[in-house]
Amino acid sequence: MRCYAAPMEGITGQVFRSIHHRFFPGVDKYFMPFLSPGKEHHFQKRDLRELAPEQNAGLCAVPQLLTRSAEDFLWCARALGDLGYREVNLNLGCPSGTVSAKGKGAGLLRDLGELERFLDAVFAGAEVSVSVKTRIGWRDPAEFGPLLALLGRYPMAELTVHLRVREAFYRGGVHLEAFQQAAEALALPLCYNGDLAAVGEIAALKKRFPSLEAVMAGRGLAGDPALFRKAQGGPAAGRQELREYHQTLYEGYAGAFQNRRAAMMRMKELWSYLIFLFAGGERHAKALRKAADPAAFLAAAEAVFRDLPLREDSAGGWRDRPLFG
Ligand SMILES: Cc1cc2nc3c(=O)[nH]c(=O)nc-3n(C[C@H](O)[C@H](O)[C@H](O)COP(=O)(O)O)c2cc1C
Repeated sequence: MRCYAAPMEGITGQVFRSIHHRFFPGVDKYFMPFLSPGKEHHFQKRDLRELAPEQNAGLCAVPQLLTRSAEDFLWCARALGDLGYREVNLNLGCPSGTVSAKGKGAGLLRDLGELERFLDAVFAGAEVSVSVKTRIGWRDPAEFGPLLALLGRYPMAELTVHLRVREAFYRGGVHLEAFQQAAEALALPLCYNGDLAAVGEIAALKKRFPSLEAVMAGRGLAGDPALFRKAQGGPAAGRQELREYHQTLYEGYAGAFQNRRAAMMRMKELWSYLIFLFAGGERHAKALRKAADPAAFLAAAEAVFRDLPLREDSAGGWRDRPLFG
């Protein structure tokens, strides 16, 4: 079974990918946080810092596009092909109000007629493999049947399904039965996404869906960087390993941003997941969150590594983000 790192804006950028891969190899693909191709049809400097092949050397990184314009998608997919990418992922899941109000991301799920026209043009023109990441609908899981019937008509490389509707954002449980529905309806490779936090959950999924080919984890991997290593029979992350991973990430961000404060902010975002790998982290979470400067932040992080017992896994404690708001 293949293991994928979910795209997470603000978390799984180039610095994270290269350092995570170095410390915890075993991720088959890292999906990049979405890129929104504009009408001007050229990459911004910021985009190229993410996309330049040397930035992703040694790992498989898949760019993801967020757009409702087939023309912009095709321009960008071609330019990514020129950079050496063989797969481009289409985002049909972003729930953000500003994104979906423009009919992008999960916004495309509101009008299957428009989605059909868009996909017709994308698949007629794409010169690289196109995979898709979708939610099961906009408001009601019953929308998934017609959506599957539409998606099944296109030669996509793979379909990843995040088993929530847009209106649920990241809240509430996942609709596991919808994955069954997808497995029955589609012949194309499927990837499961939603709430995976522990090796036992991945094993249970494999038991329920024996033909499952791929799983994708986002918050679960941020919360336990060794999640997939453990799922592949390897060891849990050790205390010293986590300390070094943390320090390397922080330094990586500080170098990339040329700014330790910005690096601290990035790391705080990661801690909103990682704290749950430690038992009894409430007080420490507060110290991390409130740290006003990098020195205070690094001291709060060291207190976690020094004082708190490691748990077997993050147990999905990050669901609904109780400690970081
Ligand atoms: C902070 C954050 C940023 C995200 N950014 C993206 C993104 O850029 N593209 C995308 O397709 N999904 C994005 N997602 C959704 C995740 O890829 C994933 O589908 C979702 O978190 C559910 O999976 P999980 O329970 O394993 O985290 C994001 C989620 C979070 C919490």
